[in-house]
Amino acid sequence: MTDFLSELHRRRTFAIVAHPDAGKTTLTEKLLLFGGAIQTAGAVKSNKIKRSTVSDFMEIERQRGISVSTSVMGFEYRNLQINILDTPGHEDFAEDTYRTLTAVDSAIVVVDVANGVEKQTEKLTKVCRMRDTPIIFFVNKMDREGKDAFDLLDEIEQKLSVKVTPLSWPIGMGQRFKGVYNLYEKKLVLFRAHGKQEDEDIIVFEDLSSSELEYHIGESAARELRSEVEVVETVYPVFKKEDYQQGTVCPVFFGSAVNNFGVKEMLDCFVEIAPTPLPRYTEERLVKPEEEKMTGFVFKIFANMDPKHRDRIAFFRICSGKFERNTNYRHIRLGRDVKFPAPTMFMASKKTVLEEAYPGDVVGLYDSGNFKIGDTLTEGELLHFKGIPAFSPEQFRYVENADPLKTKQFVKGLEQLMDEGVAQMFTRQSDGRRIVGTVGQLQFEVIQHRLESEYGAKCRYEPVNLYKACWVHTQDPKALDEFLDRRKRDIARDNDDNIVFLAETAWILQTVQENFPKIEFRFTSE
Ligand code: G4P
Repeated sequence: MTDFLSELHRRRTFAIVAHPDAGKTTLTEKLLLFGGAIQTAGAVKSNKIKRSTVSDFMEIERQRGISVSTSVMGFEYRNLQINILDTPGHEDFAEDTYRTLTAVDSAIVVVDVANGVEKQTEKLTKVCRMRDTPIIFFVNKMDREGKDAFDLLDEIEQKLSVKVTPLSWPIGMGQRFKGVYNLYEKKLVLFRAHGKQEDEDIIVFEDLSSSELEYHIGESAARELRSEVEVVETVYPVFKKEDYQQGTVCPVFFGSAVNNFGVKEMLDCFVEIAPTPLPRYTEERLVKPEEEKMTGFVFKIFANMDPKHRDRIAFFRICSGKFERNTNYRHIRLGRDVKFPAPTMFMASKKTVLEEAYPGDVVGLYDSGNFKIGDTLTEGELLHFKGIPAFSPEQFRYVENADPLKTKQFVKGLEQLMDEGVAQMFTRQSDGRRIVGTVGQLQFEVIQHRLESEYGAKCRYEPVNLYKACWVHTQDPKALDEFLDRRKRDIARDNDDNIVFLAETAWILQTVQENFPKIEFRFTSE
């Protein structure tokens, strides 16, 4: 048991999220270099799909290949097992990112100092905040001209509705970037480009009023730093680990990922403050990681990577207990036992079969079609992990079978792609028509392409005018019956058979809300 607990307490599982181009891939790579998980720069491929290749399916397949191998990047650092969960770079796959965020215990959000808070930064931080996931901000590209640090922190606080406290403070930026003052460790860290920093560039510096400061960074920078740090100390709260871990205050670091500057400092702080695997809610009860019995859930599925086999890898986050190879676990949705002869751990493109894994770990389970996103495995207890909601899609289209001889393949293909979470499907109750909902345009193309190449089926899309899909909840069965009867035409079922109201416009949704006050319309399935 002590072994189990010490393994558990060694785990730190997190995701790095960012708006595309802010520097997520670069930062990930530097972290892996520190952890010795990779030896050379450039080893982590960007999983970005560049705009120009939106219809290039080779590119999408290549990207899926990369995504499998980088889904979980594990490494050891200062005797801790660090698991970085990768998130897709393209915003059309944002829902994939939301789901991955359910499997982490904390997040690092990268912000480009010039662009500040961007659209994806906002969306992803909001998802972290839904679960009070502790966040560290890394303000990147300090070697370039960008926003004033105070303005940027204001922008982060306002646009993201978070409270921040800087743990390092930049000394100039762009051409004048001299480094940072580490407020957490009271150290002056001098900048050198291209990661050429040496030990003597890190100077313990408790007293900023010392004239030594001028010696290191020059007169005007010293003056500026002193006055800015004074403001920082009066404006921002003193950092407390508990505030961060409860998700109420987010520490901020400044650096330059490509120059490997400020990264190690953040990592050193991260390993001290980041939470160990957190308890997780199921519909039935709170599951604590220390519990002896194994539980966990599937948050991501990759299917048909090899066209010759119907193979799938389900990514499974362990929430409690020790996971063991070749052991029977109860698949709650199917109500039967399953076991895994070759559970896999991914270590930055290397794959290894593992014998056991601990809470916080993510293992890849080979599967022939038994898993859906959100599925729970336990040692028998009836539990359903919460927190893997579907979000209302942004774009909708009717999907029709375009080859009547391939109906079976079409139905099966669609079903499996939906299990994988590529998009959501709603079946309209009045006419049985299928409506596919996605976050972006790209997913429609992915579905069409994959139906054809993996299932030999063809699909056709037709426009449908919809604003949102809302999950319907009420405690009042009579009100529900009345609503279902009156709005028959707009009612559908999602893949899990939940009732969904398809709102054509925001105005219609508002009217329906007014007319049926006992019914709650939610933009997420949970
Ligand atoms: P992403 O995964 O968040 O999308 O971003 P990625 O790391 O791919 O970085 C996007 C671009 O920003 C890359 O340049 C990268 O080199 C650059 N970059 C990352 N960190 C810094 C930094 O600290 N300073 C500066 N000046 N640039 C940075 P690219 O030209 O798109 O690609 P590449 O050819 O350099 O790889």
